[in-house]
Amino acid sequence: MKGIVLAGGTGTRLHPITRGVSKQLLPVFDKPMIYYPLSTLMLAGVREILVITTPEDAPSFHRLLADGSELGLDLTYATQAEPNGIAEAFLIGEDHIAGENVALVLGDNIFHGPRFSGMLRDARDGLGPDGDGCVLFGYPVKDPQRYGVGEADDQGRLISIEEKPEKPRSDRAITGLYLYDGQAAELAKQLRPSARGELEITDLNRTYMEQGRARLVDLGRGFAWLDTGTHESLIEAGHYVQVLENRQGIRIACLEEVALRMGFIDADACYALGEKQARNGYGQYVMNVAKSFSATR
Ligand code: DAU
Repeated sequence: MKGIVLAGGTGTRLHPITRGVSKQLLPVFDKPMIYYPLSTLMLAGVREILVITTPEDAPSFHRLLADGSELGLDLTYATQAEPNGIAEAFLIGEDHIAGENVALVLGDNIFHGPRFSGMLRDARDGLGPDGDGCVLFGYPVKDPQRYGVGEADDQGRLISIEEKPEKPRSDRAITGLYLYDGQAAELAKQLRPSARGELEITDLNRTYMEQGRARLVDLGRGFAWLDTGTHESLIEAGHYVQVLENRQGIRIACLEEVALRMGFIDADACYALGEKQARNGYGQYVMNVAKSFSATR
């Protein structure tokens, strides 16, 4: 399965912060925002990942993540000239996807919760090696009119989907993580821009739904899908990460740790990555993770 992180957009809701820096590079407590969605793809076992950014911000993302080889990843980059819609990611990424299954994650979406990697594996397996359909992830929110909103039948099949409806039919927001079969690019090409001039991901998902090939998996209570869209929600997301990390002595979305646990790199390589930043708590954490990982093998 191929992966795409979509990290473009204008970030206008976070101005003036995002006038000089891309939203997805802003800190969420101890790491850049893009670490979180990137770790989500890694937990799904995805290693070949296209990072789509604005043309202006591309050098910064490259400086941060390079080619990903230190993490056992294969990262490539593309740019989106204008925010023409989330589904445009499949047109930009068509060669990268090369007809395979693909996971798309929005660069500002933070997921954290128990059994998440198992859930991702199941969703990936459910799509099958040759792929058929798409898998979306739903999350109950108190303000569904701000999101894509979906409903599923008791088999988990998507039966309705609307983008930012005034009168939502359910409280299930469709989160910014989407798994598709190899037809996503072909189907995205057939979409027409919406009233706001965008190729809407919700329209692509509706196409799959109308073919009876869209599933909606519930993330449910106890799971955290965090918003970073406003100044308040951005700082709240940082506080959430801080509280959990300080309380449990773990780090969420530590890419070095995820790479180690997923078997993308070995403990020596992980330790060496920690050593490079040994003067701060993050680097020390990575070194400790590598040491205790080797001790338990
Ligand atoms: O976060 C989940 C929601 O994301 C879904 O529930 C909605 O169905 C989906 O449309 C989207 O809604 P948003 O209102 O959050 O979309 P927004 O335009 O803010 O874009 C989300 C992220 O994707 C944002 O960080 C910028 C990036 N983006 C967006 C567009 C439209 C791009 O990189 N390129 C784009 O063309």
